Amino acid sequence: MSDKQRRKFLKKAGLAGLGALSLSGASAAAKERDFQILKRKYAESDREKLRYAVIGAGIMGMENVKTVTRRDDVELVAVCDLYSGRRNSTNEMFDKQLFVTNDHRELLKRNDIDVVIIGTPDHWHKEISIDALNAGKHVYCEKPMVKSVEEGHDVINAWKKSGKIMMVGSQGLSSLGNEKAKELIAQGAIGEINYAEGFWARHSPVGAWQYHIPEDASTGTVDWDRYVANTNKRPFDPMRFFRWRNYLDYGTGMSGDLFVHLFSSLHFITNSLGPEVISAQGGLRYWKDGREVPDVLLGTFTYPEAEAHPGFNLSLRCNFVDGTSGTTYLRVVGSKGSMDVKWEEVVLKRNEVSTDDPFEIEQMKLAGTSQPDRARILPPSETVYRAQDNWKGAHYDHHSNLVNAIRNNGKVVEDPVFGFRAAAPALLCNDSYFQKKFIEWDPVKMKIVS
Ligand SMILES: NC(=O)c1ccc[n+]([C@@H]2O[C@H](COP(=O)([O-])OP(=O)(O)OC[C@H]3O[C@@H](n4cnc5c(N)ncnc54)[C@H](O)[C@@H]3O)[C@@H](O)[C@H]2O)c1
Repeated sequence: MSDKQRRKFLKKAGLAGLGALSLSGASAAAKERDFQILKRKYAESDREKLRYAVIGAGIMGMENVKTVTRRDDVELVAVCDLYSGRRNSTNEMFDKQLFVTNDHRELLKRNDIDVVIIGTPDHWHKEISIDALNAGKHVYCEKPMVKSVEEGHDVINAWKKSGKIMMVGSQGLSSLGNEKAKELIAQGAIGEINYAEGFWARHSPVGAWQYHIPEDASTGTVDWDRYVANTNKRPFDPMRFFRWRNYLDYGTGMSGDLFVHLFSSLHFITNSLGPEVISAQGGLRYWKDGREVPDVLLGTFTYPEAEAHPGFNLSLRCNFVDGTSGTTYLRVVGSKGSMDVKWEEVVLKRNEVSTDDPFEIEQMKLAGTSQPDRARILPPSETVYRAQDNWKGAHYDHHSNLVNAIRNNGKVVEDPVFGFRAAAPALLCNDSYFQKKFIEWDPVKMKIVS
């Protein structure tokens, strides 16, 4: 019987965990996998509906609305957007009359709104968050929480002063996968963390932010003056409005868009406050459409020893011209193994001290640390934790975390302090790239070290 047939037989007989015993070598044992299902229980809520408004009703703003209104105890009552096409389509989507405006200040004056979702481009996050908190609203603001590190403390101070609850929208950290990874780290499953890496790969026009520009885009349908009210004044340019991610006045490049998710998850999993040294390199290799940001970006980060973890290094990459396309991962490496962490799955790999490399075997013999002659029962070297099939998803759970915090006057998983600590190293990546220098950051005080 071959090893493959034997494994199949053992699996059928419900003895898969014993497979390693009868396999011939360590490499065969290394293929053994153990599967576990991650579960979430949901409670019904019969509480009075929380009244939501969305400011910035584009792709993600409306994804947030669609997700949170899956809950029976939430309703959408108002919409604000600078483009008439968005205002009209949102109003049509709901079969009741919503309050609709292009000025967030008008919306915030209303007292029939409990929570606002901010889904605008990044350059409006700070101002609208502060206005909303000052107006007594709870806030769900998309990531990155702010557009530059100088803005972070203003939002934190407004939040603290307001007594309201604010959640930042890196929904991955409310996932079953991130929660399991956090638990495994705390249990010492991979030993002492020393390295982590993350990667985003894409290769498509939409993936590289070349979004559709509506045919009716003009100063008649877009409130351009308001759009640029808090940044450099320029003549109307539909590219700068509908493809805002490509321009530094409005967006935060690959790191502010994507690395920030990886920082959020990593900080959640490891309880880290952030790195102390940030460096980035990259270039514009392919999407030369007038954009001001690179399409290949590499960042390296030094995390200092802290109460929660030993010192470690992080490497992040983002490539919009990647022929393999569509890959995203976060890997955390420790002295005893590693974890590949996704929102719906964690693959834990343990470092079994066994080898079939003849050179290493001889070296081990010389050192008196050779493997026992007799085969041992090895634990599964890979354990896969996978989310249950009917899980409602990280995004739903992130919003529910906010709703529950509002209901119970509790805390959210990604408050502005957490949100800023995740955004800052991502934003400083851009500074390092453009200024061609290492940036030192104090993750405790949340300040650039000058
Ligand atoms: N959490 C995630 O997974 C995720 C995914 C995508 C985007 N995002 C974040 O969501 C935000 C929006 O991204 P998007 O892809 O939905 O962009 P988008 O261009 O589709 O939507 C932005 C909307 O904001 C409107 N807008 C611009 N300025 C405004 C203002 N001052 N007041 C009111 N409306 C305004 C625009 O008209 C547009 O409809 C960004 O911060 C982005 O980083 C998060």
